[in-house]
Amino acid sequence: MSGKDDGTGKGSGPVNPRGRQKAVRVKKKSIAKISSRRWLERQLNDPYVAEAQRLGYRSRAAFKLIEMDQQFNLLRSDMIVVDLGAAPGGWSQIAAMRGAKVVALDLLQMDPLPGVAFLQMDFMDEDAPEQLINALSGPVDLVLSDMAPNTMGHKTTDHLRIMNLVELAYDFATQILKPGGTFVAKVFLGATQGDMLQQMKRDFATVKHVKPKASRQGSSEQYVIAKGYRRPPEE
Ligand SMILES: C[S@@+](CC[C@H](N)C(=O)[O-])C[C@H]1O[C@@H](n2cnc3c(N)ncnc32)[C@H](O)[C@@H]1O
Repeated sequence: MSGKDDGTGKGSGPVNPRGRQKAVRVKKKSIAKISSRRWLERQLNDPYVAEAQRLGYRSRAAFKLIEMDQQFNLLRSDMIVVDLGAAPGGWSQIAAMRGAKVVALDLLQMDPLPGVAFLQMDFMDEDAPEQLINALSGPVDLVLSDMAPNTMGHKTTDHLRIMNLVELAYDFATQILKPGGTFVAKVFLGATQGDMLQQMKRDFATVKHVKPKASRQGSSEQYVIAKGYRRPPEE
């Protein structure tokens, strides 16, 4: 961390995705796979990547959370946050910088961050909910999920895998959120239609969809933000 930034995104000035900068081209010969070359070119030319590096953020995704927080007042100090699909740690970092206590989980390894307890495991594992609950120090105010399974290129299968992950995250959130709590999850266009959206609207006071500016324009990624959890009374 640079130590100068408070994670509000205010100190950095707005990131201008259309800001002028000379495009970097990666020579074809040096990288075998065209897709890897495209990915690298995109990274090298992405102003959010450059700004994240300048501010010491773990990922460009940090700007998505900063923007959603500015719009929806998601983060406060003294809150307990669960961050699913946390690596490399941009969202956890921003939440912890605001004083939240974070329990984060990812399939991939993540370097330690102050204020963040990390579990490296698959959220689809049967044990995952119990292990997360054991790592928590109190009732949860906010569940974040930026999880996205690797796509296989088969539209229907990819859609089902994404749906499955979002539904599991939602199910878990409704078990651990305290009344008034918030659920934020990455979804893809159409993934929270129908039954799940109807259920969310019953469970939460407000449900909105948003596509932050830092979300790549070409992708169908968006985020669902459900606030004001109406926790059913214990039986
Ligand atoms: C877009 S990245 C998250 C970026 C993160 N929000 C940040 O700010 O740095 C998505 C993450 O979801 C994780 N993921 C995907 N499927 C998962 C699963 N079944 N269990 C745990 N993590 C998963 C991936 O390993 C990946 O690190």
